[in-house]
Amino acid sequence: MQLPQLEDLPPVRGKRVLVRCDFNVPLAGDVITDDLRIRLPIDTLTWLLDQGAEKLTVCSHLGRPKGKPDPKYDIAPVRRRLYELLEDRDASTERVELLENLRFNPGEEANDPAFVASLVENQDLYVDDAFGAAHRAHASIVGPPAFLPSAAGRVLAREVEVLDGLLQEPRRPFVAVLGGAKVSDKLGVIDALLGKVDTLLVGGGMCFTFLAAQGHDPGGSLLEHSQVENCARLLSAAEASGKRILVPTDIIALSPDGVFGAGRAPEGEMEQFGPDLPEGWLGLDIGPGTAAAFADEIASGATVFWNGPMGVFEDPRFAAGTEVVAEAVASTEGFSVVGGGDSASALKEFGLDDQVDHLSTGGGASLEFIEKGDLPGLAALRDSAARTGASPSTKSTAQSG
Ligand code: 3PG
Repeated sequence: MQLPQLEDLPPVRGKRVLVRCDFNVPLAGDVITDDLRIRLPIDTLTWLLDQGAEKLTVCSHLGRPKGKPDPKYDIAPVRRRLYELLEDRDASTERVELLENLRFNPGEEANDPAFVASLVENQDLYVDDAFGAAHRAHASIVGPPAFLPSAAGRVLAREVEVLDGLLQEPRRPFVAVLGGAKVSDKLGVIDALLGKVDTLLVGGGMCFTFLAAQGHDPGGSLLEHSQVENCARLLSAAEASGKRILVPTDIIALSPDGVFGAGRAPEGEMEQFGPDLPEGWLGLDIGPGTAAAFADEIASGATVFWNGPMGVFEDPRFAAGTEVVAEAVASTEGFSVVGGGDSASALKEFGLDDQVDHLSTGGGASLEFIEKGDLPGLAALRDSAARTGASPSTKSTAQSG
């Protein structure tokens, strides 16, 4: 996909640049527990400063404050960390301001023209480096490119290069691993991936709806009755097209009286079963046989994409399947891409986040890109380039890393 790059902007020297980042970081009170989303766009900001930009007005959302100020989502901790990181790179922080949380204004999510006007006022250029928010048609994402010469920042450009490469010309075999709670959330992605992959491995809560479609008994596990037929359709479509969908052959389950979750006292009995569970037993992780089989498939992949945990990994009793998959993704010789969200948290928890080829900063955005092949924020940048006659740089696929 062609997007206007930083180098395609008119000369930056002496210009005021509006930069949209996705600084939506996890917070515990006012402590940032993972600053990756602030660290990554520093390259974009320092490039603009090095090119002689007069001023950078950086903006981001933080959390979901519902269109009004909420002290819980005050952007101050992000601002402190941003300035520290810029200072570490000897960048001139006097030329950088960070606006207050965009979502404190209802105009952001409503894509209100008046809010767009206030953002672009006195700005000369726009840079979008917020891949994680590129699936939102919000004011700060789709508005400015209609008014200002615009470009993708380094983070956004790299994400699109990798994910587009994955879809357009993956090295084969292409193995995708999907987990997470609900099939209904991922149907579009599964459909899209089935057109691209050679093998799809299914774990997490959603595997029980696939198992039910094969005639197995999920016991008391999460089951989406309304999706059983869809799963049956996907299983036969895969078979008809020579693709493989692998579902668990063994499950770690918790007895009906058990309780589970992060930080819960370990109550209840745990047992390993085959793909059929006794009445009331809750399947909460893939079993060791499945984990080993999934790891072998991942090791044989030339391209590997992983999104979604294999079980309730926040509860250490049900983390083993996700850990085996995370280790396999981290150690495969294939090109490994991990969608953001829970799989990114799992990788981080197991200390493997720096061992994959690409860890996406966007959970929802990466899945929507895989499903639809485009996002509103990307279309806005392309439209802007078409309007200003800029010829976007061509970026090839990123599989060489
Ligand atoms: C994310 O965390 O996935 C992005 O920052 C988007 O946040 P949102 O889902 O609240 O729009």
